[in-house]
Amino acid sequence: MNESIKSRIAQLKKEKDVVILAHYYVDGEVQEIADYVGDSYYLAEVATKVPESVILFCGVSFMGESAKILNPEKKVIMADRHADCPMAHMVDMKKIEEVRKEYPDVAVVCYVNSTAEIKTASDVCVTSSNALKIVKKLPNKDIFFIPDHNLGRFIAAQLPEKHFIFNDGYCHVHKAILADDVRKAKEAHPHAQMLAHPECTGDVLELADYVGSTSQIIDYATASDDDEFLIATEMGVFYELMQKNPDKKFFPVGQDQICADMKKVSLEGIAEALEHMDAEVELPEETRNDAHAPLKRMLELASE
Ligand code: 13P
Ligand code: SF4
Repeated sequence: MNESIKSRIAQLKKEKDVVILAHYYVDGEVQEIADYVGDSYYLAEVATKVPESVILFCGVSFMGESAKILNPEKKVIMADRHADCPMAHMVDMKKIEEVRKEYPDVAVVCYVNSTAEIKTASDVCVTSSNALKIVKKLPNKDIFFIPDHNLGRFIAAQLPEKHFIFNDGYCHVHKAILADDVRKAKEAHPHAQMLAHPECTGDVLELADYVGSTSQIIDYATASDDDEFLIATEMGVFYELMQKNPDKKFFPVGQDQICADMKKVSLEGIAEALEHMDAEVELPEETRNDAHAPLKRMLELASE
């Protein structure tokens, strides 16, 4: 059954000049058929380099929107049009206006997990893999970090020279990973290193041996001489962790490290999306234009 869907996908992709990009949180069988798999930063960057005229995105809406904003001439199709990141909606334009009024020299630093509209009101975008590097380079002392306060606080703790204003957005998947669960997991696996995503709460991050984006977690475990790891992020990363490290052991720390939105993406959905090509990312031209500058600034600052 899977084999016939996979060959249908391969044929449609070729016929319609499509490249498939997938995030590490989608199911392993989807990662397996994708042309490129990575963290949010890698996927935004790779989207600017692929030659195909159509990008099919296996991820949540903000990822497809970023690909479209960076490549307005390409058609960007979502593998599942309802896969959305709740955190992307946890800040509004009014809040940004208020902070700009109170702190006229503020830099609005926007985690890519945000809507295109929010990006239009921001000075620069960041992802979990480059936020520290980018915020450090900004000339502004005042930083309004949106929408995720956990990533914001993690970065702020490393940049005492800056003054941060936080927003109260969060990822419900990472928030559900509890420090008590981490302690129990450490007791069960006393030799394991604990690797965490910076969207986890501060008390969980304090217990981590390493904090990084999805790709950084995978790279860290792969380069390490250790062979047991507790993983505090979404379960999708286990696919690549195990592909790259078949002899190492990986354990979740929480009860339910699943992003239901990422899991909406399926092989059947991809075949449908390729067949009909109708789940297209569409943004008003003005939004696209205004959201382009902060994303482009991220790509430039991250690569310097
Ligand atoms: P990465 O940038 O680490 O891939 O994270 C994206 C994300 O949605 C984390 O929840
Ligand atoms: Fe959004 Fe959290 Fe899912 Fe990442 S894991 S896409 S931040 S809900």
